[in-house]
Amino acid sequence: MAHQWRGVIREYAERLPVTEATKVITLGEGGTPLVHAEKLSELTGSVVYLKVEGMNPTGSFKDRGMTMAMTAAVEAGAKAVVCASTGNTSASAAAYATAAGLKCAVLVPEGKISMGKLSQAIAHGATLLQVDGNFDNCLDIARKLGESYPVFLVNSVNPARIQGQKTGAFEVVDALGDAPDIHVLPVGNAGNISAYWKGYKEYSAPFESGTAGTLPAVSTKTPAMWGFQAAGAAPFVAGHPITEPDTIATAIRIGNPASWDTAVAARDESGGLIEAVTDEEILDAHRWLSSKEGVFVEPGSAAGVAGLIKKHAAGQVPTGKTIVITVTGHGLKDPQWALRTADGSDVQPVSVPNDVVSVANELGLDAK
Ligand code: F0G
Repeated sequence: MAHQWRGVIREYAERLPVTEATKVITLGEGGTPLVHAEKLSELTGSVVYLKVEGMNPTGSFKDRGMTMAMTAAVEAGAKAVVCASTGNTSASAAAYATAAGLKCAVLVPEGKISMGKLSQAIAHGATLLQVDGNFDNCLDIARKLGESYPVFLVNSVNPARIQGQKTGAFEVVDALGDAPDIHVLPVGNAGNISAYWKGYKEYSAPFESGTAGTLPAVSTKTPAMWGFQAAGAAPFVAGHPITEPDTIATAIRIGNPASWDTAVAARDESGGLIEAVTDEEILDAHRWLSSKEGVFVEPGSAAGVAGLIKKHAAGQVPTGKTIVITVTGHGLKDPQWALRTADGSDVQPVSVPNDVVSVANELGLDAK
């Protein structure tokens, strides 16, 4: 029988705070591919998979949380939503607000979000304000707006967002038949590492469902959570907030993560780690994914892969394990980085005359 993926709320309704009566706002998010990463597996001697979150409706993992946040906003009778963002949250909020028929305002750090993300928010009709400050300043203002003005906050400080994002872990377990040994991902505002850990924990024990009684455990174990931050924006590595975060990976250019405590708990309870990778390592991993695995991600999304490669080089990645890396956003969000070579020069597409011999010559082909 025909079956279409119904979005994360309907697929995992029994494990989310919704009821039959909930009016679900969805664009069909989730159900993203878990791609076997052949070259990373060869490199590490473990079986490595990529959870390709760029395949969500707005091109990032944020849609998993936004379907829940926007559903909650409608349920609360909100007329307008607000968020701070390094770009992906704003793109997602704008799209889901449109689907919900709500107004949307987004606050982004001036000059520090990619063109793709900026264009998404504008295309979906959000009111986009560029704040003369960084993401942390934007979030501070968005929180205050939510407290003192009639707008509903859809950042991941809203627990509905984390509820939606935990479904990423469910999908990994459903695809593999059990939890992986290690789960690797980039860390910025730290909502996603918190959400995955919540999902893995809930799937590994009996679960008290609001609608379906006690559900049995689905997995036999939980993974070690390995988070990676950009070196210039690595508050968890420093052990304190960073006032002037800086990295080319604008998605994770965050100095004062909102989900600090839950991320630290995810790291420590899981026996995991949160470490840093340099911008150069991020761009190398970005290039590795596109040129060796066939998966195009945005730079921030490559931080997890950069971390795994770095840990492997240091002899700190076990062999014979199952490792999942969430690659969080699509390469088309921020395509300029693909048009740069490893030495920093621009890639110039070759122009040729409009005839087959010239094209064959340029390709180095001899006639048959
Ligand atoms: N990867 C991408 C592509 C992101 O956009 C983000 C966060 C992260 C990773 C980090 O996830 O914040 O849950 O630790 N982007 C937010 C935004 C901050 O506004 O789009 P996190």
